[in-house]
Amino acid sequence: MIKKYTFGNPIETNATVIDISETKGTLEFFERDNNTFILRLAENDIVYGLGQQVRGLNKRGWKYASNNLDNPNHEEDTLSLYGTHNFIIISGDSLFGAFFDYAGIITFDIGYTHRNLLTVTPDDDNLDVYIITGENETDIVRQFRNLTGRSYAAPKWAFGYGQSRWGYKNADDVRAVAESYRNNNIPIDSIYLDIDYMERYKDFTVDNDAFPDFSGLTAEMKKQGIRLVPIIDAGVKIEDGYDVYEEGVKQNYFCKDADGNDFVAAVWPGRVHFPDVLNSDARKWFGEKYDFLIKQGIEGFWNDMNEPAIFYTEKRLESSIEKINELAKTNMGINEYFELKDAVNSLANNPDDYKLFYHNIDGKKVRHDKVHNLFGFNMTRAASEAFDKICPNKRILMFSRSSCAGMHRYGGMWQGDNKSWWSHLLMNIQMTCNLNMVGFLYTGADMGGFGCDTTEDLMLRWLQFSLFTPLMRNHSALGTREQEVYRFDNMESCRKMIEIRYALIPYLYSEYMKAVLNDDMMFRPLGFEFHDKFSRNTEDQLLLGNEIMLAPVYTQNAEGRYVWLPEEMMFVRMRSLNDYETEILPSGHHYISAKLDELVFFIRRNKAIPLCSAARCTDEIDMSTLHLFGYENSSYELYDDDGISKNISRENISTII
Ligand code: NOJ
Repeated sequence: MIKKYTFGNPIETNATVIDISETKGTLEFFERDNNTFILRLAENDIVYGLGQQVRGLNKRGWKYASNNLDNPNHEEDTLSLYGTHNFIIISGDSLFGAFFDYAGIITFDIGYTHRNLLTVTPDDDNLDVYIITGENETDIVRQFRNLTGRSYAAPKWAFGYGQSRWGYKNADDVRAVAESYRNNNIPIDSIYLDIDYMERYKDFTVDNDAFPDFSGLTAEMKKQGIRLVPIIDAGVKIEDGYDVYEEGVKQNYFCKDADGNDFVAAVWPGRVHFPDVLNSDARKWFGEKYDFLIKQGIEGFWNDMNEPAIFYTEKRLESSIEKINELAKTNMGINEYFELKDAVNSLANNPDDYKLFYHNIDGKKVRHDKVHNLFGFNMTRAASEAFDKICPNKRILMFSRSSCAGMHRYGGMWQGDNKSWWSHLLMNIQMTCNLNMVGFLYTGADMGGFGCDTTEDLMLRWLQFSLFTPLMRNHSALGTREQEVYRFDNMESCRKMIEIRYALIPYLYSEYMKAVLNDDMMFRPLGFEFHDKFSRNTEDQLLLGNEIMLAPVYTQNAEGRYVWLPEEMMFVRMRSLNDYETEILPSGHHYISAKLDELVFFIRRNKAIPLCSAARCTDEIDMSTLHLFGYENSSYELYDDDGISKNISRENISTII
């Protein structure tokens, strides 16, 4: 059951898709003190939720801010990342969900100031709060998802392995990557194009010197079963003669400053304007621009820098330079040195700069910080609404860095600029589950880690988890160690893991599409299904569908790990598709050994999963090789379709035995 409480005059966020009439009277569960909502937590209450945030499944013991931020530091004390998902579930003495539908900045203190208090503080008093009660956590999630709409369905090819790197600077670099994968017989479906493909980092352009025949390259790759997936950034470069810039200025489609001039910020191309994607005409215009690349054979995109990230604004740059010049004349001691650092560090993503520009929300002038968290959502919505027109019955891959509750209807999201750290592999495991709760089913992290130099063992262990996530993409930052899997001595083991991924695609796609159709989670915490104290406290094992329990190895030099089995399960240890052992383990605590090249996972009691033979790419998957793997005499409900058209329906489910 869902109850809606309205406070003040909320700005429309478009997070929800069904109208619920307002409940008048006192808000259930929470007390209020000015703007703050207060909830007393019982000792054993778990607080799930918040989607993209640091820390684990149980968010208790820290404070978080919903304030979309280009933040490459995903650390224990990080307050905000790129996305905002203000949905929590309290599970313990009481059981309910709460969704704070709010476009601005809102903080969650979940037992940080006082261990037994949860406080939620929006920037102002204008918001809707939904209280959701249900039979169990899964039921509460389902109701929340029903309220916020059906999750985005990705095309099947987007379940293949993807290779990306910031720094593939021309067509030959791309060809070399494709060739290395194909020559080493490593399956692959996509190569991502980072900002290097654009002409001077201008959206919807191609650098013709570096990529002389772009549609030719797209076609050449497609022949090999590889799709190119270009990046699109939020900022539009200010450059005379650049059509997107000139059209935007002429039509008043850019965000304005207080004086009504087009607001100037800077990102990769230098000075840019931001398209006012909260304005319906501007959104339509920006979305249509994707057609420039679709016409050249492109079938998928990733939207980046759409918090929106700001390297500097004109005015702040001027005052910082003035300050630095002043300081340079002094004998810089401790104070001046820190002032110098501040003058530089306060340039990027400065909260005050988000108060300097305005949106025209269909006639109403709204200051950006009031709707800050909606920017990435609406950039992705712009693209998705345009795709519906450009190719009405074809699924286009779309995922975004920034997001907000409700964006899951329009695209997926990747987990941002993580690092090649073992702790970030664990964060990936937990975040995948947390994002599923708020509808982001198409997700994955930069496998191997984006920032810092990876190691071959981290890459292999990360592969062993990522081979279960819908987005399986190896991506890394400019200047870091190259991490295409063929670069490592253990390439052979990596290849075998990627082959296992391809054998699992019918199952993963089926679980994904069933979760889309049923408003379900593909990945769930153990505590959602088993209520014993060990399951409720388990932070590093996940349920995948109803068939699999994952217990990934995420520490360096480990030759195994501890696992809690709430019930009997089949333990699978796999080195390759035809080199594996299985063993039935009783419920209880176990230490399982897992050498570096061994994938370990569990099949739940009396369940089985479909597996097929490996393939070079998803288009070549041979469904006639499908067979059940797991407990004998079990069956599986398989969803399958052509993987590309939008005819998604429960009629595509059949039982296989
Ligand atoms: C930031 C993104 O998060 C990252 O994935 C990308 O490589 C860089 N921008 C460069 O475009």
